[in-house]
Amino acid sequence: MNDMIRQLEERRDQARAGGGERRVQAQHAKGKLSARERIELLLDDGSFEEWDMFVEHRCSDFGMTEQKVPGDGVVTGWGTVNGRLVFVFSQDFTVFGGSLSEAHAEKICKIMDRAMQVGAPVIGINDSGGARIQEGVASLAGYAEVFQRNVMASGVVPQISVIMGPCAGGAVYSPAMTDFIFMVKDSSYMFVTGPDVVKTVTHEMVTHEELGGAVTHTTRSGVADVAFENDVEALAEIRRFLDFLPSSNREKSPTWHTDDPIDRAEPSLDTLVPANPNKPYDMKELIEKVVDEGDFFEIQPGYAGNIVTGFGRMEGHPIGIVANQPMVLAGCLDIDASKKAARFVRFCDCFNIPIVTFVDVPGFLPGTSQEHGGIIKHGAKLLYAFAEATVPKVTVITRKSYGGAYVVMSSKHLRGDVSYAWPGAEVAVMGSKGAVEIIFRSELGDPDKIEARTEQYREQFANPFSAARRGFIDDVIMPHSTRRRIGNALRMLRDKELTNPWKKHDNIPL
Ligand code: HXC
Repeated sequence: MNDMIRQLEERRDQARAGGGERRVQAQHAKGKLSARERIELLLDDGSFEEWDMFVEHRCSDFGMTEQKVPGDGVVTGWGTVNGRLVFVFSQDFTVFGGSLSEAHAEKICKIMDRAMQVGAPVIGINDSGGARIQEGVASLAGYAEVFQRNVMASGVVPQISVIMGPCAGGAVYSPAMTDFIFMVKDSSYMFVTGPDVVKTVTHEMVTHEELGGAVTHTTRSGVADVAFENDVEALAEIRRFLDFLPSSNREKSPTWHTDDPIDRAEPSLDTLVPANPNKPYDMKELIEKVVDEGDFFEIQPGYAGNIVTGFGRMEGHPIGIVANQPMVLAGCLDIDASKKAARFVRFCDCFNIPIVTFVDVPGFLPGTSQEHGGIIKHGAKLLYAFAEATVPKVTVITRKSYGGAYVVMSSKHLRGDVSYAWPGAEVAVMGSKGAVEIIFRSELGDPDKIEARTEQYREQFANPFSAARRGFIDDVIMPHSTRRRIGNALRMLRDKELTNPWKKHDNIPL
């Protein structure tokens, strides 16, 4: 018996050693944690249950029979984050560069299948040289198996990718199909073809970091959601992030205790919006003053800053927040903002997370680059996402809400449940000046007349009451009471039931 126990321990030690001390040191020297250290930081202490520690690859080509490391370059299993079940895989760069073999893929698929069955999130920590070159097509098939599961799990359990090293070639498509991608600055990158291929084909000289580093993907391409400084910060923030999510589409989001009273008034909000309609203010200030304890987890903070997306809580219940940001492009909707917010809204709707929308939008961004870039189709994504969403939807118009953008931003007409406006809100086809210049074009030579017309238009439309008279706005509320009014609305809507007509699936304008 003692022998067997010793043997077991030896085998476990061998698996835990991964690619060996030298390679682990090289990993640390790059500022990266090992696969197991990452899992330890991600999960609650002592909660990790490892599976398939003894799995080995089955490749016999290129001398691979003699090169076997138990676990085969990926650590998989399940554990808890703040007491809630999650499944995890963590690629071990010290074993064949974390490359994906057939067996490595099988391990990932096994936890994904179980996660879907029991309804728990999957967190994938990526640090891999891609397909196991010695295995050829068997490795490609392994990727395909993972991709298929990413698609099947989409909208069933939250899928989170953490990129903590290389992620290149077709391998990028697994993270791309998950709900969120988090990256680490300076040590992670994602690209379909690397700098060498780029140089050969397009003669562009570009570094790994410039081509597909964390900053590039969180500010330029929008592929990734948040860039963290290092592994430790990333894993701590992912723990915080998971607290906002339900475990699956079958359950409601977790409820956490809060000491923040829902009727907390915020007098400072009464002066948040400047008197000059062209002066910006920070929409994030409003968000932070409304949600429980000011705890807001922003998604894509570095990308399309003209719209803010992220998670907060009201009375301990998670909510998704979408808000125009007057500080960037005056809060106009453009291609990037529409795509960013549409994806966020769809995530919330998949996972039963109510959506609170703060509106201050002068319209869609004009220009050839927008039109030629397809703002029609991309803008439609956001419209579509809000319109199809069946979760509780509460909207607060703080200032401008003009034209098509008014309709798009979770209006009553798109099955918005509760719509409020602040007293200075303007719900209109467009701003007064622009409107008068069109309908009184013949009077443009007479500035006094135009001024009078503008004033008349402003009085008639530049307020929330023409919309309120038709019931498009449920009430005009005082800014300082915004938290209480949203909280009450969400409580009223907690057991809302609404379903869309049966369909195989929809055809959102992709
Ligand atoms: C097998 C691999 C490997 C791979 C790295 N290694 N990538 N083994 N298959 N794909 C091994 C190395 O041989 C080395 O082993 C160890 O991992 C560490 O690699 P290094 O090159 O020393 O590390 P580093 O200098 O940090 O460079 C990392 C790297 C580089 C940039 C990822 O290794 C690299 O370019 N690898 C190949 C990437 C690639 O072309 N992959 C296939 C892409 S195609 P030792 O024993 O020395 O420690 C693809 C298709 C997916 O992935 C399709 C899905 C549909």
